[in-house]
Amino acid sequence: MQNNNLTNKTLHEFYKSRDYSLFGVIGNPVSHSQSPALHKEFLLNAGLSQKAEYIKINITNPAELKNIILTMPKMGFIGCNITTPFKEQVFKIVAKLALKGLAKLNSTANRMDAVNCLFFNPETGIIEAYNTDAAGFTADLEDKKITFKTALVIGAGGASKAIIAGLLDLNIRRDLHISIINRTYNKAKNIQNHFRQELVFYKPLIRVIQPKKFEIHKPSIRAIQPEKLKIQDYDLIINTTSLGLKTNEYPDIDYSKINKSAFCYDVIYPSDSPHSLTPFLQKCLDAGVDQNQQCNGYGMLFHQA
Ligand code: ATR
Repeated sequence: MQNNNLTNKTLHEFYKSRDYSLFGVIGNPVSHSQSPALHKEFLLNAGLSQKAEYIKINITNPAELKNIILTMPKMGFIGCNITTPFKEQVFKIVAKLALKGLAKLNSTANRMDAVNCLFFNPETGIIEAYNTDAAGFTADLEDKKITFKTALVIGAGGASKAIIAGLLDLNIRRDLHISIINRTYNKAKNIQNHFRQELVFYKPLIRVIQPKKFEIHKPSIRAIQPEKLKIQDYDLIINTTSLGLKTNEYPDIDYSKINKSAFCYDVIYPSDSPHSLTPFLQKCLDAGVDQNQQCNGYGMLFHQA
């Protein structure tokens, strides 16, 4: 593995050298997942579609997750994506296996305490764990040329950490303010503390305004109580909760006060039609946010796959 990262080239070499390989996505729900369709297209484009299969694995009993992961390589699986709500649980499982020398976590998975991709290395027998969510998100933001200075992250699970890591990566020396709200405030506070430790090491941007007068710019992050939220203050609003995935639900915020020029981003996408609006985005549209100022998580999925 070069640079501690799983590269397409490496995977391609493994596919070619094997008679047949299995891939999968683990989650609950997974029936909606577009990962199989995307990966099948990648395999087809690489001329490897006859040599691999990508399947959906719906986990109904999380207690079985560890055994399932350990069994997968024996069944011929070479890789597996992990989706909601198991990214943090898989991180913990892999971290314990790593202590026994059976697995290893790359630096991005460690940074986020969450895993979205496993590679069962057939040469070493080691389970390698990665997180490509942040990179998928930043690639999508850059693709869409979205500019922002104040970001509101709704939710404080595994997806939330990936989004915040991505926002910080994009704005490493700029003046970005990130706020997090979550149903369970303590979880938002934990994420705030997690990333504040990282911010200590960020080099600030020093802008000289006049001789002897200068401004210091450095990203900031804070958890806020939902009742203290002033939603009009944000120019990027990201839903990272699982609301809208199974039912027509959306985060409980005052949509009427959203800044109409804000960009609204949802990390999920509708199962039946990956390019249409999620319940959260529909609420933003109803509140007057232009459809050009919105996107769902399909672009992020595409870039992280
Ligand atoms: P993921 O790995 O996809 O982020 P997760 O870690 O289970 O999944 O996180 C789900 C997020 O959705 C959490 O922020 C969760 O809020 P809590 O931390 O309070 O559990 C949020 N969420 C899920 N159902 C919710 C609901 N009905 N109302 C509000 N927030 C909800």
